[in-house]
This record gives sequence, C-alpha cells and structure tokens, in this order.
Amino acid sequence: MLSWDEFNAEEAPSTTTAIRSVAGVQARAQIQAEETRVAAPAVTERAQAALEQAAIAAAAAARAQAAAAVAAPAAAPGVALDPLEQAIASLETLDVDAGRAELEESAQRVKVDDKRMINCRADLNQLVPFKYDWAWQKYLDGCANHWMPQEVNMNADIALWKGKTGLTDDERLIVKRSLGFFSTADSLVANNLVLAVYRLITNPECRQYILRQAFEEAIHTHAYQYCIESLAMDEGEIFNMYHEVPSVAKKASWGLKYTRELSDPNFRTGTRETDQALLKNLIAYYCCLEGIFFYCGFTQILSMGRRNKMTGTSEQFQYILRDESMHLNFGIDMINQIKLENPQLWTDKMKEEATQMILQAAQLEIEYARDTMPRGVLGMNAAMMEEYLQFIANRRLVQIGLPEQFKGVKNPFPWMSEIMDLRKEKNFFETRVTEYQTGGALTWE
Ligand SMILES: [Fe+2]
Ligand SMILES: [Fe+2]
Repeated sequence: MLSWDEFNAEEAPSTTTAIRSVAGVQARAQIQAEETRVAAPAVTERAQAALEQAAIAAAAAARAQAAAAVAAPAAAPGVALDPLEQAIASLETLDVDAGRAELEESAQRVKVDDKRMINCRADLNQLVPFKYDWAWQKYLDGCANHWMPQEVNMNADIALWKGKTGLTDDERLIVKRSLGFFSTADSLVANNLVLAVYRLITNPECRQYILRQAFEEAIHTHAYQYCIESLAMDEGEIFNMYHEVPSVAKKASWGLKYTRELSDPNFRTGTRETDQALLKNLIAYYCCLEGIFFYCGFTQILSMGRRNKMTGTSEQFQYILRDESMHLNFGIDMINQIKLENPQLWTDKMKEEATQMILQAAQLEIEYARDTMPRGVLGMNAAMMEEYLQFIANRRLVQIGLPEQFKGVKNPFPWMSEIMDLRKEKNFFETRVTEYQTGGALTWE
C-alpha cells in the first residue's frame, strides 16, 4: 500500500508543477514588458506601470485562450498549446459549484435514522453510521470467502473429459448444459446489479455488498470460462447456448424481462408502481434466478463430484454455491427490509404476483431438469428434481413471507442441504483447501 512516507514530491506531477507553469506564462509576459522597457529607457514610471498592466493582461489573455482551446478546440485551430497548459487552463474554468449543487440536499452528517433502503435522501457517500449491520457483515463474509478459479486443479477433469469411457452421454449432456446455462447466467445477474439495481438501492452498506457481489459474479463467469477452456469445449456452442437451447433460453429471457424497465436511465423509484417494479426485480433475480434457476445445475454437478467424476468442475461449483447462498440470503434480507419500511408496497396483488413469479421460475427449472435428464442419471431423475424444486420454491416463498404452494413435498437430496447449512465462513470442501488466505498462498493438506 502506498503511504505518505513513500511519496516523492519531486516525481509527482503535482499542483506545484502546475503553478510553476502558470507562473511561466506570466513570467514570459513580464519579460516581454521588461524588454519593452529596456528598449525605451526614457519611459516614465507611469508608463512602466501601464506596461506591467499590459503584461498581466497578456498572461490573462493567454490563460483565457488556453481555456477556450480546451472548451472549444475547434474555435482556435491555429493554437498549439502545451498539454499541461491545456490541463491547467481547463481546471481554472472548472465549475466547482456545479459539482457541489448535486450534493447540496445531503450536505450534512448522516444519522442512522436518515437511512433507508430505497428513496433515501441522505448522503450515500457516507458509509457510516451503519443501519443495516447484516449487509455490512455479509460484505465482510464475502471478502473472507474470496477465491479464484485458477486455484482449483482441473487435471482429473481434463483426463476424464478427453477419455472415451469415463463419462456417459447423459453425464456429458449435463456438464455441457450446466456450463452453457451458467456461463451467461452470471453475466445477466451482474448486469442487472450494476445497470439496474445499484443506483436504486439508496443505502451505502447495501451498495458495498452489491459491489462485492458484482465482483463475485465476474469470478463465477471466469470459473465457467476456465472450465470450458480447460476441457477444450467449443466455446461458441457453450456461450451461445442461451440463444440456441430452448430450456436455457427461456430461463435467460424470463430474467431479462425484469431488467429491461429498470435499466432505462430514465427509470426512477418513488411511486408505488415503480417501487414495486424494483421489488419484483429483486424477487426475480435473488429468489428466482439465483434461488431457483441455479439449483438443478448445481445439484447435478455436485452429484457428479460426489461420485468422483469431474471433481475440479464440481469444486468450482461448490465455491460458487457458497457465494450464491450468501447472495440469496442478502437479497431476501433486502426484500424483507424494503417491505418493512414500505408496507404499502406489499399489497395482495403484489403478493399474488410474487407467488406467481416463484411458481413460474420453479416450472421453468423443472422443464430444464426434464431437458437435461431424459433418463435417470447420477442417482437422480427429472421426477426427483421436480420434487426438489418444489421444496426449494416453498422455501423461497416462506423466506419472503408468503405461504407454501406445494403441500407435503420433501427434500430428496438432503446432502445438498448439508452443504448449504454449513457455516459459510468455514471451508467445507472435501478436496483440499482448508482456508482461503487473502493475499497469500493457500494451505493444502
Ligand atoms: Fe454467480
Ligand atoms: Fe449470485
């Protein structure tokens, strides 16, 4: 980390240099004045003063000319200014008040009671005092769980994938479909976060987590790319699957329709209708996309890993599942907090729509399960996955305060719960990583 002790003023292109340059312009003008005075020694003091005034005016004119060149370079085509002089001139014309005016409404110290999830008018650049400790804690937990895809050994997967007999056709289909869906799905999630959600969530500690989540989504996309590259798959086929394979395309389109309205730069919250649109977006992405659409693929790949197949890919998915589980929990906390602060949004109609969204998502994921498992494979089949997804959908409904819709369903894959119920800050991987050490080497057993 750079400290002030290491700061070398002589090397820095500092303000001092800039001031020197302005002084240079003035000095040249004064030299001009001096030369004029020397050439005409008989001039009176009054005349000298006039010349000095002229020199100052010349320097000011030079600065104005530079500013004009920066503001409208085409207006002074013949002037070739030094880049540094241009920069200085530009700064001299900087309208500081315009920047301040944007913050004027919130130009005071923030109090906890000023903070709100949406439509908040307090200064969003002041992180503390915290109001939502859960958001800050998740940010810290996310950072503590940092990992990178290259840390996972893919050698066994490469050998198995290249071999003719290690995997059945049905198992290969699952690997390809999973990488096909996820390689673009996490991109959709990241885009929704940074292009739609971020500016509308008006709380700095939640924004801090959203930024962390956005980076984790980038790592997930990297992880899928890393698997695809390691296995020497046809990248075009895999990355374009969300256009070409109906069961994948439907899930992507379903999510995208909730991004569309909010990513319009003119979209603003503040009315019941627009606040509800934001709430629907959060339900779509956190509860449905990350909370349902990921579950068939995760279960399939983790089941493969439990059978000692594609263990590297499976380990990547385990890291991702740990992150996703936290994204989901953060999203649910955010949704419930918005409901708490804005009870007028949680109308019967809104509850009905939220229920419908979760049912639709479960149905799309069931269709995906049927498409990817035409027969029984890896100790599971589409019917078992259907029950599992109904079980998951019930959990999502309850998590945001809605009644279960599938009576009496059970979890046919209790081992998935075991993985997710483990404390998130602990490492639960069966392979080798015992603890992630930020900025240092991993410890391997
Ligand atoms: Fe992700
Ligand atoms: Fe996520």
